[in-house]
Amino acid sequence: MKILLDETTLQEGVRRMARDITSIYGDRPVTMIGVLTGSVVLVADLIRQLSMPLRVGVVQASSYRGTTTRGHLVINSDLMPDITGRDVVIVDDIFDTGNTLVELLAMMDRLGPMSVRTAVLLRKTGRQEVTYEPNFVGFEIPDEFVVGYGLDYHDAYRNLPFVAALESQEIDSTPP
Ligand code: IMP
Ligand code: MG
Repeated sequence: MKILLDETTLQEGVRRMARDITSIYGDRPVTMIGVLTGSVVLVADLIRQLSMPLRVGVVQASSYRGTTTRGHLVINSDLMPDITGRDVVIVDDIFDTGNTLVELLAMMDRLGPMSVRTAVLLRKTGRQEVTYEPNFVGFEIPDEFVVGYGLDYHDAYRNLPFVAALESQEIDSTPP
């Protein structure tokens, strides 16, 4: 695989995202909701760069099957904290077609939050099928299938400390 973002670069991006988030909320309380499973590494790093009163929760959204096909999106909000009247930031690993975040936003809007913004580590150029854009973006990347720092290919590679693009032979073969 080909490394796109190394550890140092990722940490700079996360610090930049934390500064952007802080410039919006200041010292006001924030409820951060990580989208399982891809956001877990970003959430862990991001929350340690934030100093406002912070609640952290998770929501599960699964849709992605392989590298190109998209399954039907299933949202499980059983583990989500109450967001009524709260300033919410949804955190996901990557903004690809955008359908996941748009559906999560619609679901959360029905729960009566004060506000909902979104933060993603990566935004893939030219893939969006929605007009919505995330509020906080770590890095813009080319249209390649990437893994690492939480992102997976068939549940492998999430633990890589960098973000790398898979080569085509790695996409065709069954991951370890
Ligand atoms: P969207 O709904 O198309 O924006 O897709 C969002 C989800 O698809 C992300 O949360 C990822 O789980 C997955 N995804 C999209 N592109 C990639 C990629 O390049 N590598 C790994 N997962 C991806
Ligand atoms: Mg995901």
